[in-house]
Amino acid sequence: MKVALLGCGVVGSEVVRLLREQADDLTARVGEPLDLAGIAVRRLDRARDVPVGPELFTTDAAGLVTRDDVDIVVEVVGGIEPVRGWLLAALGAGKSVVSANKALLASDGSTLHDAAAAAGVDLYYEAAVAGAIPLLRPLRESLAGDRVRRVLGIVNGTTNYILTRMDETGASFTEALEEATALGYAEADPTADIDGYDAAAKAAILAQLAFHTRVTLGDVHREGIGAVTAADIASARAMGCTVKALAIAERSSERPGVSVRVHPAMVPRSHPLASVREAFNAVFIEAEAAGQLMFYGRGAGGSPTASAVLGDLVAVARNRVAGRRGPGESAYAALPVLPMGET
Ligand code: HSE
Repeated sequence: MKVALLGCGVVGSEVVRLLREQADDLTARVGEPLDLAGIAVRRLDRARDVPVGPELFTTDAAGLVTRDDVDIVVEVVGGIEPVRGWLLAALGAGKSVVSANKALLASDGSTLHDAAAAAGVDLYYEAAVAGAIPLLRPLRESLAGDRVRRVLGIVNGTTNYILTRMDETGASFTEALEEATALGYAEADPTADIDGYDAAAKAAILAQLAFHTRVTLGDVHREGIGAVTAADIASARAMGCTVKALAIAERSSERPGVSVRVHPAMVPRSHPLASVREAFNAVFIEAEAAGQLMFYGRGAGGSPTASAVLGDLVAVARNRVAGRRGPGESAYAALPVLPMGET
């Protein structure tokens, strides 16, 4: 099974390391070796600490993804263009795709899903939401027989780190952001974290899968944490609460529709989400038959994200070996997205 990797930064280099270190186990799990066919990067002259030779590297991502010997394309580049074109070309050429690209899946996932369905191949993207936490496949598969009512999550590690430090140590917003950036949690431009764009993209993806409908980034009501002050945190504390940046997607109980939003909220200290500290993520799901479920773990960082990528890679490779396709998107419900406050 030949794998093309697009991107070799923090996550990509971890994917390469794990592919090499766990080669024997992965071969046993898939039934065939997973071999790297090539790694597309922006620049060839950058020093990289990866256990592969320079002959695997190329700057020609478009050429790599359609190469005849490639079976699976793994994308950890991020951003919408030019990645959308590469992934559509890969799917069109019959390659299965594993992506960690929340921006692309949140803004135009349906185009990619349609291309995957037309080609009869897989499109998996567990790493796009909450890093290592298994969440999208449980929603797509384990909860496929249930009816989700509400998804409530802490899905941005940077803002959770900032709010935790402000709450527990009295750190200023700026100090806590600097720490989160130094620890590698923040996006290249941390305004995507602070202003809620990162969480809104993840909320859109969660809502798509939880409610089988087409929610995009533009449908998500969004408020960041930039206006949260030390005084807000002290007031919350006095009321037995803590402040968390929540992503909320819920089905209306009054009429057909879902509401999807991201904003800071007071969470009672007795609620399980209140104990989610620092850069950890957690997603709380309420489903009609299953009741309450909570998924918790590391939502950011190279190794946790690479774990989710490798899990998807094994799943799509197993499907190819078995000559089948995993579950695709099931956007049949066509539920409208309700304006903020209308639930
Ligand atoms: N900047 C993101 C976060 C990285 O802090 O959660 C993972 O998507």
